[in-house]
Amino acid sequence: MWKSAHEHVLKLTVYEPGKPVEELARDLGLREEQIIKLASNENPLGPSPKALEAMRTTLERSHFYPDGGGYELRGAIAERLGIGFARENIVLGNGSNEIIEFIGHAFFRPGDEVVVARHSFAVYKLMAQLFGADTVEVPDPGFTADLDAMLAAITPRTRVLFLANPNNPTGTLVGQEAIDRFMAKVPPHVLVVFDEAYYEFLDEEAAPDVLKYVREGRNVVVMRTFSKIMGLANLRIGYGVTTPELAAVLQRTRQPFNANGIAQAGALAGLLDTEHMLRTRQITHEGREYLEKEFAAMGLEYVPSAANFVLVKVGDGNAVFQAMLRKGIILRAMGSYGLPEWIRISVGTMDQNHRCIEELRALATEGKLPA
Ligand SMILES: Cc1ncc(COP(=O)(O)O)c(C=O)c1O
Repeated sequence: MWKSAHEHVLKLTVYEPGKPVEELARDLGLREEQIIKLASNENPLGPSPKALEAMRTTLERSHFYPDGGGYELRGAIAERLGIGFARENIVLGNGSNEIIEFIGHAFFRPGDEVVVARHSFAVYKLMAQLFGADTVEVPDPGFTADLDAMLAAITPRTRVLFLANPNNPTGTLVGQEAIDRFMAKVPPHVLVVFDEAYYEFLDEEAAPDVLKYVREGRNVVVMRTFSKIMGLANLRIGYGVTTPELAAVLQRTRQPFNANGIAQAGALAGLLDTEHMLRTRQITHEGREYLEKEFAAMGLEYVPSAANFVLVKVGDGNAVFQAMLRKGIILRAMGSYGLPEWIRISVGTMDQNHRCIEELRALATEGKLPA
C-alpha cells in the first residue's frame, strides 16, 4: 500500500526540527529545567503574561469550536498594520508555516518553479516538493540574498519567489533600496512572498517596508508569526498579509478551524502587550551583541545577525552540536542546510548565553573548536 502513496510525498525530505527539551531530558536523565534550548529561535522570556491570562480564560471554553474566521484577531492585526489594511487582508495560519502550505495548495503545480536563496528557510523547498514543484536555489554570496541573481533566475515557469527577511538560518537582512529595485523589475506572473518571521526584532530604522506593496495591490504575501518575538511557538499561530483577492484564494485552502481559539486569544492579547515585545527585543539585542563579541574573541567566524540567532562556524557542526547536547545545551546543527561546519545559536537570556559561551570555551580548550 505505502508504495502507492503520491510520488512527491514518497520523495519528500523530512523537516529536522530543533531537538525538544523533553527528549534530551529523557536521553540524559536530567530534569527539563536543567536543559537550555537555543535551537529554534524561541522567546527565552516565554509568552507575554497577558497572553497567558487570556489563554487561561479561553481554556474554559475548550468545548466550543473556535471562531474559524478569526474575526477579532484578524481585525486587531489589520488595525496594528495601519491605514490601508482591513480584516480581508489577513489570513491566519497554524503557524506561518501553514501559510506557505496554503500558497502551495493555491499555486504550485508539478513543473512550476519556486525561487529561493541558497541558504533560506527549509520549509519553502519542502512545500515545493510536496506539490511537485521544482525549487531553484540562487547563490547568496556572504549569506545575503542576491536579489539581482534571484530576478535573473525567474523564468516563465516561476510561480513564487520566497524571501525571508531577516533570513533564517543566516540572520541577514536585505534593505529597502535593494527590495525596491527588485520589486520594480519582478514580472507580474510571480508571487513574491516576504517572510517576516523575525521582523519585530529589527530596529525601526532598519526595518524595510514591504507592506506598501500589498497596499499597492501587487502580487505579494507578507508572512509574520506569533512564534518568535511573541513567544507563542507552541500554540502554532501566524498570518499572511496580502490583497483581499489573494487572501480570499488562500482562505479557500485552509481547514475550517486551522487556528485554534486558545492560540487566537493568546495572540490577540500578546499583540497588545508592547512592553513584553520591547523587553524581548532589548534582551535579544544585548544577548546577540554578547554572543557575537564572544565569537569574535574566540576567533570564530560568524554571520552578523539582524534576528534572534547567530550562525557561527565551529568546524564540525554536528560534533559540536552533540558535545553541547551532552552538556544539556541544545543548539542547531546546520548539515541539513548544506552548512556542516556551522551551527546556529538562538539568543537566550543572559544566563543562558553565558552558560553556552562557557561550554563552547570549554570545548575550545579541549581542542574541539577551530584554533
Ligand atoms: C523564516 C521563518 N519562517 C517561518 C517560520 C515558521 O514559523 P511558525 O510556523 O512557527 O510561524 C520560521 C520558524 O523557524 C522561520 O524561521
